Amino acid sequence: MKIGILTSGGDCPGLNAVIRGVVLKGTTNYNIEFVGIRDGWRGVVDGDFFPLTRHEVKGLSKVGGTILGTSRTNPYEGPRGGAENIAKTLYGHHIDGIIAIGGEGTLAAANRLWNDGINVMGVPKTIDNDLRATDYSFGFDTAVNIATDAMDRLRTTGDSHQRCMVAEVMGRHVGWIALHSGIAAGAHVICIPEVPMSITEIAAQVQKAHDRGRAPLVVVSEGFTLTGMDEAFSDKGLDAFNRPRLGGISEVLAPEIERLTGIETRATVLGHIQRGGSPSGFDRVLATRLGLHAADSVYEQAWGQMVSLKGTDIVRVPFAEALGELNTVPIYRYEEAAALFG
Ligand code: F6P
Repeated sequence: MKIGILTSGGDCPGLNAVIRGVVLKGTTNYNIEFVGIRDGWRGVVDGDFFPLTRHEVKGLSKVGGTILGTSRTNPYEGPRGGAENIAKTLYGHHIDGIIAIGGEGTLAAANRLWNDGINVMGVPKTIDNDLRATDYSFGFDTAVNIATDAMDRLRTTGDSHQRCMVAEVMGRHVGWIALHSGIAAGAHVICIPEVPMSITEIAAQVQKAHDRGRAPLVVVSEGFTLTGMDEAFSDKGLDAFNRPRLGGISEVLAPEIERLTGIETRATVLGHIQRGGSPSGFDRVLATRLGLHAADSVYEQAWGQMVSLKGTDIVRVPFAEALGELNTVPIYRYEEAAALFG
């Protein structure tokens, strides 16, 4: 059996740990031959493959990024794209199936290819934790740790100047990173896409914290919308899947908070720092386990499914179940944290 592995979409700490887990178990237990596919679906379309042995994956679980490279290429686009061309390319290289490690866009493409006759199975990844059908995705814990550390630092400089600090985190249209890092860092206001707020509500919470002698810390998710805004703030155009590139809402909020409260306010966009560097211990373990189970899945020819975390177990879930709806923050999780605000 010969299997290609790809990483696609935004990178995320833990991708290399998955690759290592797949290759170690697949080669040792099942005698599967692996090839690395360069830069996500781009490598499938272009037939850009290289041998992936135990040697290539040694010591990888702690290494950030992805040794395979990644891109946001759509496999159905371009003259060599589409299921028919891809089937020919894979056949020409004697590749029996693909393990696609990716987020929503990647898994949607994987599902479409599977429905069009290509053997694909998936491993969910995203720092955003926005995928249904997995309790947590690897990368999320690392992003929360990085954001928490950054906010701890913002608090000491905020305290020194008695300023309001606004920290903007990633997450696209879900507020998991903001909620978890905000709770961990003791933020006074947490703004998430699932709960629109007005600027006066935000300013009131900031004022309350300031009146108690605290330097207010606001964490805002990049996908947050102020009450009355139809769409998340975006001034950076569209990505390869025609989705708006988010980021910058903190720069909108900070001057408004300052105007309404008179408290000097600064905005910090944490950006891609949240995706860089070594995965946390939790993410190394989760990613490795997903990789080990992905090797079992291809050996058992469980195509059209992804491996996922349910409670403490790794299970298999059909692509269709994992796609369509986002894993948003339930309102009870936000309300539970409300006692900490202001
Ligand atoms: O999905 C992961 C993510 O980091 C989002 O949180 C963010 O909106 C997006 O990717 C950024 O994408 P890019 O790396 O293409 O700028």
